[in-house]
Amino acid sequence: MSGLLNMASLADFEPLAAGIPATKVEITLSFFMYLYICFFVVCVLYTQTVANREWREFGRTEVIDNTLNPDFVHKFILDYFFEERQNLRFDLYDLDSKSENLSKHDFLGQMYCTLGEVVGSQGSRMERSLNNIVWASSVKHMVPSDFRGIPGKNCGTIIMKAEELGNCRSVLMQFCGNKLDKKDFFGKSDPFLVFYRSNEDGTFTICHKTEVVKNTLDPVWQAFKIPVRALCNGDYDRAIKIEVYDWDRDGGHDYIGQFSTSYRELSKGHSRFTVWEVLNPKKKKKKKKYLNSGTHEILHSYSHSYLNDLLINAFSALFMAGNPSQPTSLHYMSPYHLNAYALALRAVGEIIQDYDSDKMFPALGFGAKLPPDGRVSHEFPLNGNPENPYCSGIEGVLEAYYQSLKSVRLYGPTYFSPVINHVARYASLVKDGSEYFILLIISDGVISDMAQTKESIVNASSLPMSIIIVGVGPAEFDEMIELDGDEVRISSRGRFAERDIVQFVPFRDYIDRRGNHILSMARLAKDVLAEIPDQFLQYMRSRGIKPQHSSHSTSSKPPSTLVHPLQTQI
Ligand SMILES: *[C@@H]1O[C@H](CO)[C@@H](O)[C@H](O)[C@H]1NC(C)=O
Ligand SMILES: *[C@@H]1O[C@H](CO)[C@@H](O)[C@H](O)[C@H]1NC(C)=O
Repeated sequence: MSGLLNMASLADFEPLAAGIPATKVEITLSFFMYLYICFFVVCVLYTQTVANREWREFGRTEVIDNTLNPDFVHKFILDYFFEERQNLRFDLYDLDSKSENLSKHDFLGQMYCTLGEVVGSQGSRMERSLNNIVWASSVKHMVPSDFRGIPGKNCGTIIMKAEELGNCRSVLMQFCGNKLDKKDFFGKSDPFLVFYRSNEDGTFTICHKTEVVKNTLDPVWQAFKIPVRALCNGDYDRAIKIEVYDWDRDGGHDYIGQFSTSYRELSKGHSRFTVWEVLNPKKKKKKKKYLNSGTHEILHSYSHSYLNDLLINAFSALFMAGNPSQPTSLHYMSPYHLNAYALALRAVGEIIQDYDSDKMFPALGFGAKLPPDGRVSHEFPLNGNPENPYCSGIEGVLEAYYQSLKSVRLYGPTYFSPVINHVARYASLVKDGSEYFILLIISDGVISDMAQTKESIVNASSLPMSIIIVGVGPAEFDEMIELDGDEVRISSRGRFAERDIVQFVPFRDYIDRRGNHILSMARLAKDVLAEIPDQFLQYMRSRGIKPQHSSHSTSSKPPSTLVHPLQTQI
């Protein structure tokens, strides 16, 4: 969930990441001085413990002759924790003898920095001129008195270079399954995943096992962190095989199916909700029907390859009724949580914005009394600017939404048709298949203008547009379900919609009971994505417009048995 999960969401995973280094960093040092005050220099690195801030020797370089060779060959390899401040101290000594005991040598001086400073410097190369060194009193007299204060005069330098050791990178992943096969006679299945790295010779080595999630066909496994080296030996395109099993007490776990992926594909899953079909090759052989169902294709890259070439124009409309200052209101703004509207907007918006090339969203509110005269409106710009209702990205829409909550008085009833007609006016201008419009409606109420709304949808069904309705809150959503038209094609006064353009999802069905907002948003976004590519393709087909990448034009039905990553983060 980049895009999607770039946000505060990382915090949810922090406890898990604690204590596990993000990566390893190799530090190379060079030291040179233009004044001859020392010949045989050694550099000792100290690191500070997190617990009691005690300095401990981490390692020493070899001894160099500073006048001949300024580069230390010895490299320090440090664990890098990006969420921590890692203090480093470099002590310089001029060696007089072969003794290992540092107190037997001339202490030259020391320099402090953090690992983050080095890694974060441009090109991960940090220079400190020697006047940053705190000179030891024993050598102070050897340092010319004007050593520090000469502007522009460089007397010597320490250079630190940090290099990330690629194959030490770790990846954080979380998977969930949908509609896995039922294996247990009593109850459902107890699924777990086994990960295999592929070897050069085509064999597989087990590299990770998830925990067992009991009695479910829709498991959500715990997020876990694994070194990329363990997963694919640093080869991002190497196959990773993942098998799905049903756990059995007697150890004879039942095989459910498997799928293959690669680190490159997994790392894309971050924002894209990549979906894999779990296949059981035996079942596939036995049943002709099974063989033909679904595809190996990833839902995401499938939909993206079409939507990529096309201008998607996303609109969002939020139903604004209620009193945002009351904690029971779905618009209630708590300093600690995003409210239900903001969560739904973010979850769906972050996905759609990936496809919207300019990422400018007109955002409308409906169901409010507007200042200054208290006129009731069912179609007003959230940012208060009728000339330019565009907001920059989902962040911009959220910002406009928060501003709007402060300025308008929220007011029922709930009319859907004005905002649908609003977008339809734009969609009716572009029918050559070069642009497609998506309206995201978020609402918590009953629909007060059901007859007009149906007619607006029937009208819009011949236009290049789709409508996503997210219902928030505890209300009954019977009308919204009817608009979805999955059961019965929606009609108005005897006229049927040309195609299904509405996708309704009740947010509460997706809310993770343990309060994991990332999971809630990931599940919601996945189901929202499910119908849009189909709706878009239907429009293109009905108008005889050929998608650009015809090689991808297989069945667009998402496969029935799915496993997908909820988040990957590197
Ligand atoms: C190092 O030398 C100092 C002074 O000669 C001495 O006090 C200290 O015990 C020595 N340290 C070690 C580890 O030998
Ligand atoms: C639907 O389209 C018809 C014909 O263009 C129009 O007369 C009618 O007002 C539209 N209905 C709505 C609810 O916009």
